[in-house]
Amino acid sequence: MTFRILISDPLSEEGIQPLREAENIHVVMETGLSPDELAERISEFDALLVRSQTEVTRELISKAAKLKIVGRAGVGVDNIDLEAATEHGIIVVNAPDGNTNSAAEHTMAMIMSLARNIPQAYYALKNHKWDRKKYIGVELKNKTLGIVGLGRIGAEVAARAKGQRMNIKAYDPFLTEEKAEKMGIGYGTLQEVLQDADFITVHTPLLKETRHLIDKEAFQSMKDGVQIVNCARGGIINEDDLYDAIKNGKVAGAALDVFEEEPIQDHKLLELPEVIATPHLGASTVEAQENVAIDVSHDVASFLNGGLARNP
Ligand code: NAD
Ligand code: MLT
Repeated sequence: MTFRILISDPLSEEGIQPLREAENIHVVMETGLSPDELAERISEFDALLVRSQTEVTRELISKAAKLKIVGRAGVGVDNIDLEAATEHGIIVVNAPDGNTNSAAEHTMAMIMSLARNIPQAYYALKNHKWDRKKYIGVELKNKTLGIVGLGRIGAEVAARAKGQRMNIKAYDPFLTEEKAEKMGIGYGTLQEVLQDADFITVHTPLLKETRHLIDKEAFQSMKDGVQIVNCARGGIINEDDLYDAIKNGKVAGAALDVFEEEPIQDHKLLELPEVIATPHLGASTVEAQENVAIDVSHDVASFLNGGLARNP
């Protein structure tokens, strides 16, 4: 029997090589299909591999007569309707740690860019403006970094920020005072982290409980002039409330890699000079893309052949 796998988002060619070489697997790579086109084709496939562009909706799943497994080449599975997949007996696997380093490094790049106004100064200089006064920054040393969500990426960010001589204070429902002490970081409630931090970075999944976790009320409890980073998921920070908090001077700067709706082109936050942004690049490195493609390819091939998936 030959299993047919559809890859509907761009994945690393090196990472999917084992699938291409497997004797009983036929890989079809068709990226950029519209939701209607995908819905028309999905019934031909035993497995679907996606990154974050493809929305695996209840409607799509209802048309996927042969589908046995969906592989998400990344961490977040918020583009997949897990409830519908479970109801149809479809297993969903992800790649939980293949892009951890890249996301943590991107977060540090954002924090450092914010502190030193690097994107704004670069843009000004490219437009022939030599302005040293306007772009005076702040040091990270001795500043407090508040981390909301101390999972894989949050913990890697903490380790790197310690190297910058920052004080770390973290909140995570699974973090204990004892564990924080062992990691050499401070522990606090969400409220304490928000009120003590000079820089705040969020690293939670997007869940019902974390949607708009950082809202108007949360901004009010922060220090004046706080700088905030989101390299996790759009929607954890309420974008309208962030806009207001920047406009009224509470927030001095924000670095965003992710947005409530993606892709964005025009967005009111991008009009503010205090906002720096990247188009969801946290995991966009050669290494991370190869890692996540290898991980999901392995799980999908193993599962189709009667084995176990490591990351269901
Ligand atoms: P993880 O599962 O290892 O860690 C998430 C942590 O969030 C867990 O420790 C969990 O306990 C904590 N958490 C859950 N609810 C919380 C709440 N209400 N308050 C505080 N903490 C809470 O995940 P990870 O690999 O560290 O990924 C974190 C986020 O980064 C995810 O949203 C993921 O999708 C995103 N991500 C983005 C990129 C990117 O390209 N920008 C790349 C990789 C991951
Ligand atoms: C993830 O959740 O892994 C990231 O958002 C990266 C991606 O979408 O590729």
